[in-house]
Amino acid sequence: MKHLLITGGAGFIGSHVVRLFVNKYPEYRIVNLDALTYAGNLANLKDIEDKPNYTFVKADICDYERMCAVMQEYDIDGVIHLAAESHVDRSIKDPFTFARTNVMGTLSLLQAARQYWDGRWEGKRFYHISTDEVYGALRLDRPEGDAPYGSEFFLETTPYNPHSPYSASKASSDHFVRAYHDTYGMPTLVTNCSNNYGPYQFPEKLIPLFINNIRHGKPLPVYGKGENVRDWLYVVDHARAIDVIFHNGNIGDTYNIGGFNEWKNIDIVKVLIRTVDRLLGNPEGTSDHLITYVTDRAGHDLRYAIDSTKLKNELGWEPSLQFEEGIELTVRWYLENQEWMDNITSGAYEKYYADMYRGRV
Ligand code: NAD
Ligand code: DAU
Repeated sequence: MKHLLITGGAGFIGSHVVRLFVNKYPEYRIVNLDALTYAGNLANLKDIEDKPNYTFVKADICDYERMCAVMQEYDIDGVIHLAAESHVDRSIKDPFTFARTNVMGTLSLLQAARQYWDGRWEGKRFYHISTDEVYGALRLDRPEGDAPYGSEFFLETTPYNPHSPYSASKASSDHFVRAYHDTYGMPTLVTNCSNNYGPYQFPEKLIPLFINNIRHGKPLPVYGKGENVRDWLYVVDHARAIDVIFHNGNIGDTYNIGGFNEWKNIDIVKVLIRTVDRLLGNPEGTSDHLITYVTDRAGHDLRYAIDSTKLKNELGWEPSLQFEEGIELTVRWYLENQEWMDNITSGAYEKYYADMYRGRV
Protein backbone atom coordinates (compact mmCIF):
# COMPACT_ATOMS: atom_id res chain seq x y z
CA MET A 1 0.00 0.00 0.00
CA LYS A 2 1.42 3.38 -1.01
CA HIS A 3 0.11 6.55 0.55
CA LEU A 4 0.64 9.40 -1.91
CA LEU A 5 0.22 13.10 -1.32
CA ILE A 6 -0.44 14.96 -4.58
CA THR A 7 -0.44 18.74 -4.15
CA GLY A 8 -2.27 21.05 -6.56
CA GLY A 9 -4.51 18.19 -7.67
CA ALA A 10 -7.50 20.48 -8.29
CA GLY A 11 -5.56 22.44 -10.91
CA PHE A 12 -5.02 21.69 -14.58
CA ILE A 13 -2.13 19.20 -14.65
CA GLY A 14 -2.69 18.00 -11.08
CA SER A 15 -6.23 16.87 -11.88
CA HIS A 16 -4.93 14.69 -14.72
CA VAL A 17 -2.24 13.23 -12.45
CA VAL A 18 -4.75 12.49 -9.67
CA ARG A 19 -7.16 10.88 -12.18
CA LEU A 20 -4.42 8.68 -13.63
CA PHE A 21 -3.13 7.50 -10.22
CA VAL A 22 -6.59 6.94 -8.69
CA ASN A 23 -7.73 4.85 -11.66
CA LYS A 24 -4.49 2.99 -12.32
CA TYR A 25 -3.51 2.18 -8.73
CA PRO A 26 -6.62 1.19 -6.73
CA GLU A 27 -4.29 -0.23 -4.06
CA TYR A 28 -2.75 3.22 -3.36
CA ARG A 29 -4.36 5.87 -1.17
CA ILE A 30 -4.26 9.16 -3.07
CA VAL A 31 -4.53 12.32 -0.97
CA ASN A 32 -5.12 15.42 -3.10
CA LEU A 33 -4.10 18.53 -1.15
CA ASP A 34 -5.09 21.86 -2.65
CA ALA A 35 -5.82 25.35 -1.31
CA LEU A 36 -8.47 25.90 -4.03
CA THR A 37 -7.10 29.25 -5.16
CA TYR A 38 -8.72 30.88 -8.21
CA ALA A 39 -7.02 28.12 -10.29
CA GLY A 40 -8.21 25.16 -8.21
CA ASN A 41 -11.51 23.61 -9.24
CA LEU A 42 -12.97 20.40 -7.80
CA ALA A 43 -15.21 20.14 -10.88
CA ASN A 44 -12.04 18.95 -12.64
CA LEU A 45 -12.27 15.73 -10.62
CA LYS A 46 -16.01 15.00 -10.62
CA ASP A 47 -15.52 11.61 -12.27
CA ILE A 48 -13.25 10.21 -9.52
CA GLU A 49 -14.33 12.05 -6.36
CA ASP A 50 -16.25 9.03 -4.99
CA LYS A 51 -13.51 6.46 -5.53
CA PRO A 52 -12.59 4.68 -2.27
CA ASN A 53 -8.84 5.30 -2.69
CA TYR A 54 -9.27 9.09 -3.10
CA THR A 55 -9.31 11.79 -0.39
CA PHE A 56 -9.37 15.57 -0.78
CA VAL A 57 -7.78 17.90 1.79
CA LYS A 58 -8.21 21.66 1.51
CA ALA A 59 -4.99 23.22 2.84
CA ASP A 60 -2.28 25.74 2.03
CA ILE A 61 1.19 24.28 1.44
CA CYS A 62 2.66 27.34 3.19
CA ASP A 63 1.03 26.19 6.44
CA TYR A 64 3.95 24.17 7.80
CA GLU A 65 2.15 22.83 10.91
CA ARG A 66 -0.70 21.63 8.74
CA MET A 67 1.70 19.94 6.29
CA CYS A 68 3.33 18.09 9.22
CA ALA A 69 -0.10 17.00 10.46
CA VAL A 70 -1.17 15.77 7.00
CA MET A 71 2.06 13.78 6.53
CA GLN A 72 1.36 12.05 9.84
CA GLU A 73 -2.41 11.61 9.55
CA TYR A 74 -2.19 9.88 6.16
CA ASP A 75 1.18 8.19 6.82
CA ILE A 76 2.49 9.62 3.54
CA ASP A 77 5.38 7.82 1.84
CA GLY A 78 5.40 9.62 -1.51
CA VAL A 79 4.83 13.27 -2.47
CA ILE A 80 4.12 14.53 -5.99
CA HIS A 81 4.24 18.30 -5.71
CA LEU A 82 2.39 20.34 -8.32
CA ALA A 83 0.77 23.10 -6.22
CA ALA A 84 2.00 26.46 -7.46
CA GLU A 85 1.09 29.82 -8.83
CA SER A 86 1.52 29.08 -12.53
CA HIS A 87 0.67 32.08 -14.72
CA VAL A 88 3.50 34.32 -15.96
CA ASP A 89 1.28 37.40 -16.50
CA ARG A 90 0.04 37.24 -12.90
CA SER A 91 3.62 36.92 -11.64
CA ILE A 92 4.51 40.18 -13.39
CA LYS A 93 1.70 41.95 -11.51
CA ASP A 94 2.14 40.22 -8.16
CA PRO A 95 5.58 38.62 -7.63
CA PHE A 96 5.18 38.29 -3.84
CA THR A 97 2.43 35.69 -4.13
CA PHE A 98 4.70 33.65 -6.39
CA ALA A 99 7.61 33.76 -3.94
CA ARG A 100 5.28 32.83 -1.10
CA THR A 101 3.61 29.82 -2.70
CA ASN A 102 6.29 28.52 -5.03
CA VAL A 103 9.34 29.08 -2.83
CA MET A 104 8.13 29.13 0.78
CA GLY A 105 5.32 26.63 0.08
CA THR A 106 7.76 24.14 -1.45
CA LEU A 107 10.15 24.64 1.45
CA SER A 108 7.38 24.08 3.96
CA LEU A 109 6.40 20.82 2.25
CA LEU A 110 10.01 19.63 2.02
CA GLN A 111 10.59 20.32 5.69
CA ALA A 112 7.34 18.59 6.72
CA ALA A 113 8.34 15.50 4.70
CA ARG A 114 11.83 15.55 6.21
CA GLN A 115 10.42 15.92 9.69
CA TYR A 116 7.95 13.03 9.23
CA TRP A 117 10.32 10.65 7.46
CA ASP A 118 13.07 11.48 9.95
CA GLY A 119 15.92 9.90 8.00
CA ARG A 120 13.91 6.73 7.17
CA TRP A 121 14.33 7.27 3.44
CA GLU A 122 13.78 3.69 2.25
CA GLY A 123 10.76 3.57 -0.11
CA LYS A 124 10.16 7.34 0.17
CA ARG A 125 9.95 9.83 -2.74
CA PHE A 126 9.61 13.59 -2.98
CA TYR A 127 8.86 14.41 -6.63
CA HIS A 128 8.80 18.09 -7.58
CA ILE A 129 7.10 19.18 -10.82
CA SER A 130 8.85 22.09 -12.48
CA THR A 131 8.98 23.91 -15.79
CA ASP A 132 11.27 24.45 -18.77
CA GLU A 133 11.04 28.21 -18.09
CA VAL A 134 13.78 27.94 -15.44
CA TYR A 135 16.31 27.51 -18.27
CA GLY A 136 15.54 30.95 -19.72
CA ALA A 137 15.00 31.57 -23.42
CA LEU A 138 16.54 30.06 -26.56
CA ARG A 139 17.51 31.86 -29.75
CA LEU A 140 15.23 31.86 -32.77
CA ASP A 141 18.02 31.31 -35.27
CA ARG A 142 15.95 29.35 -37.84
CA PRO A 143 12.76 31.42 -37.89
CA GLU A 144 11.59 30.40 -41.37
CA GLY A 145 10.25 27.03 -42.49
CA ASP A 146 9.23 24.16 -40.24
CA ALA A 147 10.15 23.61 -36.61
CA PRO A 148 12.59 23.34 -34.88
CA TYR A 149 13.05 27.10 -34.98
CA GLY A 150 16.51 27.09 -33.50
CA SER A 151 19.59 24.94 -33.20
CA GLU A 152 19.68 24.81 -29.40
CA PHE A 153 17.50 22.86 -26.97
CA PHE A 154 17.13 22.82 -23.20
CA LEU A 155 19.03 19.87 -21.72
CA GLU A 156 19.01 18.72 -18.08
CA THR A 157 22.49 20.28 -17.86
CA THR A 158 21.47 23.69 -19.24
CA PRO A 159 22.31 26.36 -16.61
CA TYR A 160 19.33 28.04 -14.95
CA ASN A 161 18.59 31.52 -16.27
CA PRO A 162 15.01 32.48 -15.35
CA HIS A 163 13.55 35.83 -16.49
CA SER A 164 10.04 36.19 -15.09
CA PRO A 165 9.07 36.29 -11.41
CA TYR A 166 7.22 33.01 -12.07
CA SER A 167 10.26 31.21 -13.49
CA ALA A 168 12.55 32.73 -10.85
CA SER A 169 10.29 31.33 -8.13
CA LYS A 170 10.19 27.89 -9.78
CA ALA A 171 13.98 27.91 -10.18
CA SER A 172 14.37 28.72 -6.51
CA SER A 173 12.05 25.87 -5.51
CA ASP A 174 14.01 23.44 -7.74
CA HIS A 175 17.21 24.45 -5.94
CA PHE A 176 15.62 23.84 -2.53
CA VAL A 177 14.53 20.35 -3.60
CA ARG A 178 18.06 19.49 -4.75
CA ALA A 179 19.46 20.98 -1.55
CA TYR A 180 17.27 18.59 0.49
CA HIS A 181 18.67 15.69 -1.52
CA ASP A 182 22.29 16.78 -1.25
CA THR A 183 22.18 17.95 2.38
CA TYR A 184 19.80 15.54 4.10
CA GLY A 185 19.72 12.60 1.67
CA MET A 186 16.02 13.00 0.87
CA PRO A 187 15.07 10.83 -2.15
CA THR A 188 14.00 13.53 -4.59
CA LEU A 189 13.11 13.79 -8.27
CA VAL A 190 12.70 16.96 -10.33
CA THR A 191 11.17 17.23 -13.79
CA ASN A 192 11.07 20.26 -16.08
CA CYS A 193 8.27 20.14 -18.60
CA SER A 194 7.30 22.25 -21.60
CA ASN A 195 3.90 23.92 -22.22
CA ASN A 196 0.94 21.64 -21.55
CA TYR A 197 -2.44 21.82 -23.29
CA GLY A 198 -5.66 19.83 -22.96
CA PRO A 199 -8.94 19.70 -21.00
CA TYR A 200 -9.40 21.54 -17.66
CA GLN A 201 -6.79 24.27 -18.24
CA PHE A 202 -7.70 27.59 -16.64
CA PRO A 203 -8.80 30.00 -19.42
CA GLU A 204 -6.18 32.65 -18.69
CA LYS A 205 -3.68 30.50 -20.65
CA LEU A 206 -3.32 30.89 -24.42
CA ILE A 207 -5.14 27.82 -25.74
CA PRO A 208 -8.34 27.71 -23.63
CA LEU A 209 -8.57 31.53 -23.61
CA PHE A 210 -8.44 31.72 -27.38
CA ILE A 211 -10.84 28.79 -27.96
CA ASN A 212 -13.38 30.51 -25.72
CA ASN A 213 -12.85 33.92 -27.34
CA ILE A 214 -13.23 32.50 -30.86
CA ARG A 215 -16.46 30.83 -29.81
CA HIS A 216 -17.80 34.15 -28.52
CA GLY A 217 -16.41 36.32 -31.35
CA LYS A 218 -14.09 38.18 -28.95
CA PRO A 219 -10.66 39.62 -29.88
CA LEU A 220 -7.64 37.29 -29.67
CA PRO A 221 -4.86 39.30 -27.97
CA VAL A 222 -1.62 38.07 -29.58
CA TYR A 223 1.38 39.44 -27.66
CA GLY A 224 3.98 41.27 -29.78
CA LYS A 225 4.23 39.82 -33.29
CA GLY A 226 3.13 36.32 -32.29
CA GLU A 227 6.59 34.97 -33.17
CA ASN A 228 7.45 33.51 -29.77
CA VAL A 229 7.89 29.75 -29.89
CA ARG A 230 6.58 27.22 -27.36
CA ASP A 231 6.94 23.43 -27.27
CA TRP A 232 3.48 21.89 -26.66
CA LEU A 233 2.70 18.60 -24.92
CA TYR A 234 -0.73 17.02 -24.37
CA VAL A 235 -1.39 17.05 -20.63
CA VAL A 236 -2.24 13.35 -20.40
CA ASP A 237 1.21 12.56 -21.83
CA HIS A 238 2.74 14.71 -19.07
CA ALA A 239 0.74 12.73 -16.47
CA ARG A 240 2.00 9.46 -18.04
CA ALA A 241 5.57 10.72 -17.79
CA ILE A 242 5.05 11.63 -14.12
CA ASP A 243 3.81 8.10 -13.43
CA VAL A 244 6.85 6.52 -15.12
CA ILE A 245 9.33 8.84 -13.41
CA PHE A 246 7.73 8.59 -9.97
CA HIS A 247 8.04 4.79 -10.09
CA ASN A 248 11.27 4.28 -12.05
CA GLY A 249 13.23 7.54 -12.09
CA ASN A 250 16.76 7.62 -10.76
CA ILE A 251 16.70 9.18 -7.28
CA GLY A 252 18.31 12.64 -7.14
CA ASP A 253 17.96 13.05 -10.92
CA THR A 254 16.32 15.62 -13.17
CA TYR A 255 14.38 14.70 -16.32
CA ASN A 256 13.20 17.04 -19.06
CA ILE A 257 9.73 16.31 -20.46
CA GLY A 258 8.66 17.63 -23.87
CA GLY A 259 7.15 16.65 -27.16
CA PHE A 260 9.65 17.99 -29.74
CA ASN A 261 6.64 20.00 -30.89
CA GLU A 262 7.56 23.66 -31.44
CA TRP A 263 5.00 26.17 -32.64
CA LYS A 264 5.04 29.92 -33.14
CA ASN A 265 2.14 31.46 -31.24
CA ILE A 266 0.59 32.96 -34.37
CA ASP A 267 0.54 29.55 -36.06
CA ILE A 268 -1.17 27.98 -33.04
CA VAL A 269 -3.74 30.76 -33.15
CA LYS A 270 -4.46 30.02 -36.82
CA VAL A 271 -4.88 26.30 -36.06
CA LEU A 272 -7.30 27.15 -33.23
CA ILE A 273 -9.34 29.47 -35.47
CA ARG A 274 -9.57 26.85 -38.23
CA THR A 275 -10.52 24.07 -35.81
CA VAL A 276 -13.13 26.02 -33.84
CA ASP A 277 -14.73 27.44 -37.00
CA ARG A 278 -14.90 23.96 -38.57
CA LEU A 279 -16.40 22.35 -35.46
CA LEU A 280 -18.96 25.16 -35.11
CA GLY A 281 -19.91 24.82 -38.78
CA ASN A 282 -18.65 28.30 -39.70
CA PRO A 283 -17.19 28.93 -43.17
CA GLU A 284 -13.36 28.88 -43.23
CA GLY A 285 -11.92 32.29 -42.37
CA THR A 286 -14.94 33.44 -40.32
CA SER A 287 -12.89 34.27 -37.22
CA ASP A 288 -9.61 35.41 -38.83
CA HIS A 289 -10.49 39.06 -38.13
CA LEU A 290 -10.39 38.40 -34.36
CA ILE A 291 -6.56 38.29 -34.36
CA THR A 292 -5.45 41.44 -32.55
CA TYR A 293 -1.77 42.25 -32.00
CA VAL A 294 -1.28 43.81 -28.56
CA THR A 295 1.55 45.13 -26.39
CA ASP A 296 4.09 42.41 -25.72
CA ARG A 297 4.46 40.65 -22.35
CA ALA A 298 7.32 42.24 -20.37
CA GLY A 299 10.46 40.09 -20.56
CA HIS A 300 8.69 37.72 -22.97
CA ASP A 301 10.90 34.64 -23.51
CA LEU A 302 11.44 34.13 -27.24
CA ARG A 303 11.68 30.36 -27.58
CA TYR A 304 11.39 27.25 -25.42
CA ALA A 305 12.37 23.83 -26.79
CA ILE A 306 12.92 20.77 -24.62
CA ASP A 307 15.22 17.86 -25.41
CA SER A 308 13.65 14.87 -23.64
CA THR A 309 16.03 12.25 -25.05
CA LYS A 310 17.23 11.23 -21.58
CA LEU A 311 13.68 10.31 -20.53
CA LYS A 312 13.15 8.33 -23.72
CA ASN A 313 16.45 6.47 -23.50
CA GLU A 314 16.39 5.73 -19.75
CA LEU A 315 12.71 5.15 -19.08
CA GLY A 316 11.17 4.57 -22.51
CA TRP A 317 8.65 7.44 -22.34
CA GLU A 318 7.45 9.14 -25.51
CA PRO A 319 4.40 11.31 -26.23
CA SER A 320 1.48 9.14 -27.36
CA LEU A 321 -0.44 11.79 -29.31
CA GLN A 322 0.42 13.82 -32.36
CA PHE A 323 -0.32 17.53 -31.94
CA GLU A 324 -3.09 17.47 -34.60
CA GLU A 325 -4.97 14.76 -32.64
CA GLY A 326 -4.37 16.48 -29.31
CA ILE A 327 -5.61 19.86 -30.46
CA GLU A 328 -8.72 18.34 -32.05
CA LEU A 329 -9.53 16.53 -28.77
CA THR A 330 -8.86 19.72 -26.82
CA VAL A 331 -11.02 22.04 -28.92
CA ARG A 332 -13.86 19.50 -28.92
CA TRP A 333 -13.60 19.18 -25.12
CA TYR A 334 -13.90 22.95 -24.51
CA LEU A 335 -16.78 23.29 -26.97
CA GLU A 336 -18.62 20.37 -25.35
CA ASN A 337 -17.98 21.59 -21.80
CA GLN A 338 -19.26 25.15 -22.05
CA GLU A 339 -20.81 24.89 -18.58
CA TRP A 340 -17.38 24.16 -17.03
CA MET A 341 -16.05 27.23 -18.88
CA ASP A 342 -19.01 29.46 -17.97
CA ASN A 343 -18.66 28.63 -14.27
CA ILE A 344 -15.10 29.94 -14.39
CA THR A 345 -15.50 32.89 -16.73
CA SER A 346 -18.28 34.48 -14.71
CA GLY A 347 -17.68 36.40 -11.48
CA ALA A 348 -14.15 37.23 -10.32
CA TYR A 349 -12.57 36.06 -13.57
CA GLU A 350 -14.38 38.75 -15.56
CA LYS A 351 -12.66 41.43 -13.50
CA TYR A 352 -9.27 39.73 -13.87
CA TYR A 353 -9.69 39.52 -17.64
CA ALA A 354 -10.80 43.13 -17.94
CA ASP A 355 -7.84 44.34 -15.80
CA MET A 356 -5.30 42.20 -17.61
CA TYR A 357 -6.32 43.34 -21.07
CA ARG A 358 -7.30 46.96 -20.31
CA GLY A 359 -5.53 49.22 -22.78
CA ARG A 360 -4.02 46.27 -24.65
CA VAL A 361 -6.84 45.14 -26.94
P1 NAD B 1 -2.71 25.50 -12.14
O1 NAD B 1 -2.53 26.96 -11.86
O2 NAD B 1 -3.75 25.06 -13.09
O3 NAD B 1 -2.97 24.73 -10.77
C1 NAD B 1 -2.26 25.01 -9.59
C2 NAD B 1 -3.01 24.34 -8.42
O4 NAD B 1 -2.25 24.63 -7.23
C3 NAD B 1 -4.41 24.89 -8.20
O5 NAD B 1 -5.32 23.84 -7.99
C4 NAD B 1 -4.28 25.75 -6.95
O6 NAD B 1 -5.47 25.81 -6.16
C5 NAD B 1 -3.15 25.02 -6.21
N1 NAD B 1 -2.44 25.91 -5.29
C6 NAD B 1 -1.94 27.15 -5.54
N2 NAD B 1 -1.38 27.68 -4.42
C7 NAD B 1 -1.52 26.73 -3.45
C8 NAD B 1 -1.13 26.67 -2.08
N3 NAD B 1 -0.51 27.70 -1.48
N4 NAD B 1 -1.41 25.54 -1.39
C9 NAD B 1 -2.04 24.50 -1.98
N5 NAD B 1 -2.45 24.52 -3.26
C10 NAD B 1 -2.20 25.61 -3.99
O7 NAD B 1 -1.27 24.99 -12.58
P2 NAD B 1 -0.84 23.89 -13.66
O8 NAD B 1 -0.74 24.53 -14.97
O9 NAD B 1 -1.67 22.68 -13.48
O10 NAD B 1 0.66 23.60 -13.15
C11 NAD B 1 0.89 22.62 -12.15
C12 NAD B 1 2.39 22.55 -11.89
O11 NAD B 1 3.07 22.19 -13.08
C13 NAD B 1 3.01 23.86 -11.42
O12 NAD B 1 3.97 23.57 -10.45
C14 NAD B 1 3.64 24.44 -12.68
O13 NAD B 1 4.73 25.24 -12.37
C15 NAD B 1 4.06 23.17 -13.39
N6 NAD B 1 4.13 23.23 -14.86
C16 NAD B 1 3.07 23.70 -15.59
C17 NAD B 1 3.12 23.68 -16.99
C18 NAD B 1 1.97 24.16 -17.84
O14 NAD B 1 2.13 24.24 -19.07
N7 NAD B 1 0.81 24.45 -17.29
C19 NAD B 1 4.29 23.21 -17.62
C20 NAD B 1 5.37 22.77 -16.83
C21 NAD B 1 5.27 22.77 -15.46
O1 DAU C 1 6.74 26.36 -20.53
C1 DAU C 1 5.99 25.88 -19.44
C2 DAU C 1 5.09 26.98 -18.93
O2 DAU C 1 4.04 27.15 -19.88
C3 DAU C 1 4.51 26.69 -17.55
O3 DAU C 1 5.55 26.61 -16.62
C4 DAU C 1 3.52 27.78 -17.14
O4 DAU C 1 2.92 27.44 -15.90
C5 DAU C 1 2.45 27.89 -18.20
O5 DAU C 1 1.56 28.94 -17.89
C6 DAU C 1 3.08 28.13 -19.58
O6 DAU C 1 3.68 29.45 -19.65
P1 DAU C 1 3.53 30.39 -20.94
O7 DAU C 1 3.73 31.79 -20.52
O8 DAU C 1 4.33 29.87 -22.07
O9 DAU C 1 1.97 30.10 -21.28
P2 DAU C 1 0.76 31.05 -21.72
O10 DAU C 1 -0.39 30.18 -22.10
O11 DAU C 1 0.51 32.15 -20.76
O12 DAU C 1 1.33 31.74 -23.06
C7 DAU C 1 1.75 30.95 -24.17
C8 DAU C 1 2.33 31.90 -25.20
O13 DAU C 1 1.25 32.70 -25.73
C9 DAU C 1 3.33 32.90 -24.63
O14 DAU C 1 4.34 33.14 -25.58
C10 DAU C 1 2.51 34.18 -24.40
C11 DAU C 1 1.46 34.10 -25.50
N1 DAU C 1 0.15 34.70 -25.16
C12 DAU C 1 -0.45 34.32 -24.02
C13 DAU C 1 -1.69 34.84 -23.65
C14 DAU C 1 -2.36 34.42 -22.37
C15 DAU C 1 -0.44 35.61 -26.03
O15 DAU C 1 0.12 35.94 -27.10
N2 DAU C 1 -1.65 36.15 -25.67
C16 DAU C 1 -2.29 35.81 -24.52
O16 DAU C 1 -3.40 36.34 -24.23
